[in-house]
Amino acid sequence: MQQTHTEAFLEKFKESFQQKKLVKLTISKPRDKKADLKSIIISPVKLKKGLLLNFVYHFKTRDITKNFLLEDAVGNIQEVMDKDFSLADMYTAEENLKLMVSPSGKVKLKTHAVIVPVPVTFSHDRKKERLLEAADSIFLRELGVTNHSGEVKHDMKDKFLQINRYLELLQPEIKQLPAAEVLKIADMGSGKGYLTFALYDYLVNRVGAEVEMTGVEFRDDLVKTCNDIAINCGFIKLEFLKGTIEDAEIDAPDILIALHACDTATDEAIYRGIQAGSSLIVCAPCCHKQIRKELSVTSELSAVLKHGILEERQAEIITDGLRALIMEVHGYKTKVFEFISTEHTPKNLMIVGRKISSGKAIREKALKNIQKVKEMFGIREHYLEGLLKD
Ligand SMILES: C[S@@+](CC[C@H](N)C(=O)[O-])C[C@H]1O[C@@H](n2cnc3c(N)ncnc32)[C@H](O)[C@@H]1O
Repeated sequence: MQQTHTEAFLEKFKESFQQKKLVKLTISKPRDKKADLKSIIISPVKLKKGLLLNFVYHFKTRDITKNFLLEDAVGNIQEVMDKDFSLADMYTAEENLKLMVSPSGKVKLKTHAVIVPVPVTFSHDRKKERLLEAADSIFLRELGVTNHSGEVKHDMKDKFLQINRYLELLQPEIKQLPAAEVLKIADMGSGKGYLTFALYDYLVNRVGAEVEMTGVEFRDDLVKTCNDIAINCGFIKLEFLKGTIEDAEIDAPDILIALHACDTATDEAIYRGIQAGSSLIVCAPCCHKQIRKELSVTSELSAVLKHGILEERQAEIITDGLRALIMEVHGYKTKVFEFISTEHTPKNLMIVGRKISSGKAIREKALKNIQKVKEMFGIREHYLEGLLKD
């Protein structure tokens, strides 16, 4: 009798494990969207008892870890794929396999050879549970954050910390979002896509969410590289679009992200989030030229701001403070904070706006405060205000 796709997939799972070529298996997309269990991540683990399979069950509010012998693991995978889940992604040293079950129960199997074979490492009892583990991640390797043994490269340690910190910060914000069948996310000025890939991987493979994610970037080479990596990782709902933050044609995102987009590009991104009514806007501003040129202080403060560096820092504070206030006028509850220590990156300020149904009084107060701050610093108009006027 001919082998079914599920049997072929499980056979490959057994074979890769026995030949020490299994990197990871991710089970996601619960058939029942309201199910408590969102995803299962399975990886080989070397313990005193020998080589076992470590299952991390991700529930809505907690994680549970169990270790199984191969035969039991295969039985468990078969059971959940027959009944509960519709996607299983297997990453091995040589190829990636995707088992998909359609709503009508039709099963498909896709296989991709990996471009660079990965030597497999085995996790022992892990010391610090991170939201993103370096050893298991294919995109980190392809982006050059980890080496071929899955270790973080020396000069990429800050980047790796930054990516994990970013996921830790977004996790509670995303949990508070209104329920959506599919979470639409836009990353404006996605660059090399470190954080775009990390967020997609976390939401889809760890949380088990349905996500459609677009990275917008005007550099052709980065768009092409990122799209190639997304395909190689099997990230089918992540695409990178060549375009500008100002004009790219994207669906209204639930979450709009702009990290280190230069100067007023951050304002363009916030503007697009406000216009689209995004539930969450997250930005980490970069340089702050516009307000610095506008500053014209006649009060006693001018004696302090005659020092270039102090004027520069003041301009940064005013630029980002006004951004937060403008978001408040448009119904966002805002937070401004350092998202990683300055020893890792100097561009470490983050503004997070969550759309709430704020009352008229709060919006009017924010508007008055904007006016006062502008008067105090001789500012004619913040770039974001100009965008929102039209
Ligand atoms: C400093 S990088 C940051 C990349 C990424 N967001 C991160 O934090 O790792 C800024 C990226 O935004 C892109 N960019 C800047 N302004 C843009 C605009 N107006 N439209 C599209 N892309 C833009 C640049 O090409 C660059 O790749």
